[in-house]
Amino acid sequence: MKITVLPGDGIGPEVTREAISVVTEVASAFGSSIETEEYLIGGAAIREKGSPFPEETRTACLESDAVFLGAVGTPEYDHLPPDSRPEVGLLQLRKALGGFANLRPARAVPALIDSSPLRREIFTGTDLLIVRELLGGLYFGEPRGFEDGRSSAYNTMRYSVAEVERVARVAFEAARGRWKKVTSVDKANVLETSQVWRETVSRVAADYSDVQLEHLFVDACAMHLVTEPARFDVILTENLFGDILSDEAAVLTGSLGMLASATIGSDIGLYEPVHGSAPQIAGRNIANPLGTIASAAMLMRYSARNEAAATAIEGAIEAVLEEGYRTADLAPEGYRNVVSTEEMGRLVRERALTNASVKTSGQAV
Ligand code: IPM
Ligand code: MN
Repeated sequence: MKITVLPGDGIGPEVTREAISVVTEVASAFGSSIETEEYLIGGAAIREKGSPFPEETRTACLESDAVFLGAVGTPEYDHLPPDSRPEVGLLQLRKALGGFANLRPARAVPALIDSSPLRREIFTGTDLLIVRELLGGLYFGEPRGFEDGRSSAYNTMRYSVAEVERVARVAFEAARGRWKKVTSVDKANVLETSQVWRETVSRVAADYSDVQLEHLFVDACAMHLVTEPARFDVILTENLFGDILSDEAAVLTGSLGMLASATIGSDIGLYEPVHGSAPQIAGRNIANPLGTIASAAMLMRYSARNEAAATAIEGAIEAVLEEGYRTADLAPEGYRNVVSTEEMGRLVRERALTNASVKTSGQAV
């Protein structure tokens, strides 16, 4: 497999390095080889090439089997207008690749239950998947812009039936492999786009009679996520709602640094952690690489179609947490077993390779 790696800004490079080293070694333990090449995106690309998504980055991404991204965004370019900021590089990348369904799983890992801001009895049993529409809504809707200098500004939320339908199918298919429940999240009491969303999802649901569908307004969903997160299975929602709800879901698991994502729907998958570039801790070897490593596991699952390698990596993450290792973001005050970004990467890599050799040699676990 040919993977284009875009480390990006802030903590992106350090967490990406760990994830790529885990995934290349685990893949080779399973007899497949991963070839990686790094390119610039975001603030790093603006600095070197004058653009957040340089042509050579685009070309490399379109010629690869999968794209792996660290993080994008840096305060250095906060003064730039929206159309030339580092984040635009990520949005152009998403659009170029064409994947429209962004999968963001959030689960209560037993070892981390006490790191959750929620009480143990509320968070226990949570295992949900956010399916976020990634190429529509306010992020991409036209027209957009400033008016009269900057005395006002506007964005457009637009969804076609076709855009809703294709992402809804991904959600229903995913639910079939899980607990067969889809919660579609909208604001149909106020927004026309949400009414089209709701009608379309209801119509698609008819093809999945084995899956239960409920509709929920986004404000209620935000509330239920903190009062009763275990009630959810698959949450299907539009781009901006999904962005907001996935940060909320992420932090419930103990740290924003834990969550992975995969973007599917086109030939070239895109894998990136849910967290941002965290510039305030960049370059200090303290960032949590687990969300990024878990994104690499998703790459093995969806692009390499190697479920065994994916579970070897995911099992390793859980085992290392079970053994008590924590990066700083997950550790309570005064915790003894705090490890660096690199140490966490090494621990997961070693454990994943053990898992892989157990599987490939056919021994019982
Ligand atoms: C995310 C991020 C991005 C988004 C930003 C960096 C453009 O917050 O992947 O959730 O809003 O989609
Ligand atoms: Mn976000």
